Amino acid sequence: MTGLVLNGETTLKAVVLDKIGRSDVLQIKKVPKPDVTTSDEILINLKYSGINFAEILARRGLYKWVPSRTGFILGMEGAGIVEKVGSGVTDFNKGDPVIVARGFGCHAEYISLDKKYVFPAIPQYTLQQNAAFSGSFLTAYIALVQMARVRVGETILVQAAAGALGTATVLLAKALGLKVAGTASSPEKIDFLRKCGVDVAINYSNVKFKDMILEWTNFKGVDVILESVGGEVYRNSLQCLSPMGRLVLVGLSSVRFNKFNPLTWWPTYKLIPRINLLNMLGRSQGILAFHVGRLLDTSYTEVRGIFEELVDFVSQYQITPHIERIFPLEQIAGAHHFIESRQSMGKVILEI
Ligand SMILES: NC(=O)c1ccc[n+]([C@@H]2O[C@H](COP(=O)([O-])OP(=O)(O)OC[C@H]3O[C@@H](n4cnc5c(N)ncnc54)[C@H](OP(=O)(O)O)[C@@H]3O)[C@@H](O)[C@H]2O)c1
Repeated sequence: MTGLVLNGETTLKAVVLDKIGRSDVLQIKKVPKPDVTTSDEILINLKYSGINFAEILARRGLYKWVPSRTGFILGMEGAGIVEKVGSGVTDFNKGDPVIVARGFGCHAEYISLDKKYVFPAIPQYTLQQNAAFSGSFLTAYIALVQMARVRVGETILVQAAAGALGTATVLLAKALGLKVAGTASSPEKIDFLRKCGVDVAINYSNVKFKDMILEWTNFKGVDVILESVGGEVYRNSLQCLSPMGRLVLVGLSSVRFNKFNPLTWWPTYKLIPRINLLNMLGRSQGILAFHVGRLLDTSYTEVRGIFEELVDFVSQYQITPHIERIFPLEQIAGAHHFIESRQSMGKVILEI
């Protein structure tokens, strides 16, 4: 236990989002240590916490799936050790290593939360790898298997493929027997993608990915696209989707909206993905979208089943998350800057 006792109350370190702004608004605060308050809760001593792009959007005031605009602890995923369980918890015991997946609260030494957001740690993974797993791999697996319903031999284009979600998607797609093309914005990322096993790596900052994809697929287009960038990337993606192809939309990483700066209003409007159903009908294509955090709330039993299936899958194919850097919790601002400036490849996590 690393918390301090202040005014008789045990406190712990946490990244509390107090202010919307650039990465330097992020600071470590002392907050009261939580405790188990219902029979279904579990108190966990978090050791590592994965950083997701959604937290960067939350810090900029652009993410709506958080409890409030400010005044909450950031961090959507983590791994740690169970310290205490409520009387209704039978699946976990004190001392168990676990994964936490929830919309907030994980950039902290302790979290107490409902058992539905807690999963057993994957035994063959380190705690770091467990902390880097749920946000990216569960999203990637749902996108490929549940939403796009991929089949062996199909082609996929993964946009922003060197990011955390992108890398997870590439690794899973290869193991699922797909032919994989991936885009990224720098030569270093292109080298990284080749090492991850992509069949075609495209630097979309200086090459028209649409032309390359059409050529790669003999002008048929790809069967599946994972899209998380928005704007031109989304619009050009639609141009290289095959008949009966499925585009799965999960994010909008290029959004730069600031409601106090009118210069950002029109660019933001232009980059929001839109659908013309009549075009889809004419081309026989599908656009799908989902949010893994929302699914945990609405479809808990199904997501738990999918998680177990995914754990079996990564065990069978010996797939592990690629962790590029581990920042100490105190360097949260530097970690956000590193991701936001598009330097990161794979996952970035915090050591708590
Ligand atoms: N719907 C869901 O359930 C769900 C779950 C997880 C993630 N997501 C979404 O998926 C996306 C990826 O998340 P992640 O955690 O994997 O993030 P990440 O590791 O930071 O990857 C994001 C990537 O987006 C690319 N990008 C393109 N334009 C950008 C811009 N203007 N600013 C910053 N990055 C830009 C960058 O790659 P290049 O430099 O190579 O372009 C970057 O590596 C995010 O939009 C996130 O919100 C959605």
